[in-house]
Amino acid sequence: MNLDLNTLSYPDFVALMGQENTPPGGVQTVDSWRRSAQQWWAAGASSGNLRVLDLACSTGFSGRQFASGLDRPVNVTGIDLSEQAVMAATAKAPPNDHFIYVCSDAARLPFDDASFDIVLVGCNFAFIDQREAALGEAHRVLTDGGMLCAANFFYRRSPPDELLQAVGEVVGFHPSPHWDFQFWRQFFSRTFDLHSSHTTVLKPVSRASLLAYAAAIGVFSDAPNLIAAQRVVAARRMYRDRSILNRHRHYQGVVVDTWTKPR
Ligand SMILES: C[S@@+](CC[C@H](N)C(=O)[O-])C[C@H]1O[C@@H](n2cnc3c(N)ncnc32)[C@H](O)[C@@H]1O
Repeated sequence: MNLDLNTLSYPDFVALMGQENTPPGGVQTVDSWRRSAQQWWAAGASSGNLRVLDLACSTGFSGRQFASGLDRPVNVTGIDLSEQAVMAATAKAPPNDHFIYVCSDAARLPFDDASFDIVLVGCNFAFIDQREAALGEAHRVLTDGGMLCAANFFYRRSPPDELLQAVGEVVGFHPSPHWDFQFWRQFFSRTFDLHSSHTTVLKPVSRASLLAYAAAIGVFSDAPNLIAAQRVVAARRMYRDRSILNRHRHYQGVVVDTWTKPR
């Protein structure tokens, strides 16, 4: 494969390497979304096949994890701007027609009004340029009374400028030091009602686990068609990127919310 792994965008790199790109808080976050959603429909909010939109889904972890362990049939539709992400999510999906992935801009969704019961938004509004338009689209495609499940990093204290600059170079957008807890609360509360919320703090991981992770993803992953030299480049990039994101964790908290669309 003729590819410069150092210049690939972050979403394309993650997808090419088949990384499980989880929302902040990983499995626990998605499981807590599922518990809230189950309480919500137990209270009579929705019946029949659950229609889930995994917005800016990356390699599709959130939708797959949300669907696993559900006590009712589900259809998951994932969208992402990155074709590489859509291909990876499709490859990882269970082999049935309940999981569909399409390349699309979150700010212009190709779906009818009220076509979903649940929209999953894990750590993506930071990545999306037109975030107000994308929130409007998430609201439009949700049914009245539908649920938006969100997880975002927020700043507990301001990171130094050089770290923000380095994080910007990794992820491809410049994080704002103003993205604190209140920022995300106000962002979603413009159009949604808060249903549940909790915050957590993620601890930075050790250098040894960063190295092991980078080797596992870069060298040993089943990413297709990469020669040995490219795998070494991939592992180095993974280690460099994750080290910067790991340092960033000292300043971050995670807010996990569920919101409902007013009826
Ligand atoms: C951190 S990942 C999302 C992780 C995923 N939602 C999860 O819960 O694990 C951010 C994703 O947003 C996608 N993205 C950025 N801008 C987008 C847009 N305008 N429309 C759709 N996807 C977008 C990127 O391609 C990337 O895959």
